[in-house]
Amino acid sequence: TDRAALIAKLPKAELHLHIEGSFEPEMMLAIAERNRVDIPFKTLAQAKAAYNFANLQEFLDLYYQGMNVLRVEQDFHDLTWAYLNRAKADNVRHVEMFYDPQAHTERGVAFGTVTDGILSALERGEKELGITSKLIMSFLRHLSEEDGFALLEESRPWHNRFVGVGLDSSEVGHPPLKFERLFAECRRLGFKLCMHAGEEGPPDYVREALLDIGIDRLDHGNRSMEDPALVAALRDTQIPLTNCPLSNLSLCVIGDLKESPLKAQLEAGLLVTVNSDDPAYFGGYVNQNYQAIADALDLSDDQLVQLARNSFTGAFLNDADKARHL
Ligand code: ADE
Ligand code: ZN
Repeated sequence: TDRAALIAKLPKAELHLHIEGSFEPEMMLAIAERNRVDIPFKTLAQAKAAYNFANLQEFLDLYYQGMNVLRVEQDFHDLTWAYLNRAKADNVRHVEMFYDPQAHTERGVAFGTVTDGILSALERGEKELGITSKLIMSFLRHLSEEDGFALLEESRPWHNRFVGVGLDSSEVGHPPLKFERLFAECRRLGFKLCMHAGEEGPPDYVREALLDIGIDRLDHGNRSMEDPALVAALRDTQIPLTNCPLSNLSLCVIGDLKESPLKAQLEAGLLVTVNSDDPAYFGGYVNQNYQAIADALDLSDDQLVQLARNSFTGAFLNDADKARHL
């Protein structure tokens, strides 16, 4: 259809993508075999059948289990390279990628193994695919702030390779202010600050992230819509939001794509973007997210163009690089 053709041809940036969430079961089975690691799935069908989630935690349990087969630098390179090739097919020109080092170092894989594998694929993606990229180191919020400080210290030799830091994993019970000192230190070091907030957690968590921490970009942010003062703050500051439609549906953040706040956010003048989050688990890469949400909310062509533009406006690119894309 015309809509599919428009989506396919729009240049896009992806601003909310966990590289470990792009781990397709096919590659998982192959890497499990080459690393001689046992996994609970023997076939693609078995893996896909397990990807049926009632909430965020049910997903996270499988997400951490899946990445357990990643052991050596080549694994992280292959994972990242596969994502970049898939993104290229969707006309993604720029990606700002999260990764979860603590999920690997906790099981004995060195920080440098993970990070160097990802970085070498990102460099190759720029050279061979023309996709620019930035890496965002994410802290696991179910761990302590002290654990976060340990990661920040361990990562010191790589600090100039990250544009920013993020906060992800189990949201409820782990509010932004649990990490107030850590994020203040990250700010002092010059990192951009991102946090997942208002995915399952209450509007109070969004308020903490936005007003107390002073984040530069809000991941998900669905539940901001419950508080008119937050909507006004997001509109006035133009802090970007990264919406992830198929993720919201898969994790039962919404019961139907028609309940997505995305159109209301656009119409309220918020700088909202469309992203895939964990595409291997949620059934779609970027274009499939644009298509599904446009169909469900009957977005206009102008709104689709706006969303693609927002993805560059909301990126951590300098003005000259943004201008090249806009
Ligand atoms: N880690 C990977 N995907 C996530 C999500 N959607 N929410 C919180 N943590 C995550
Ligand atoms: Zn996410």
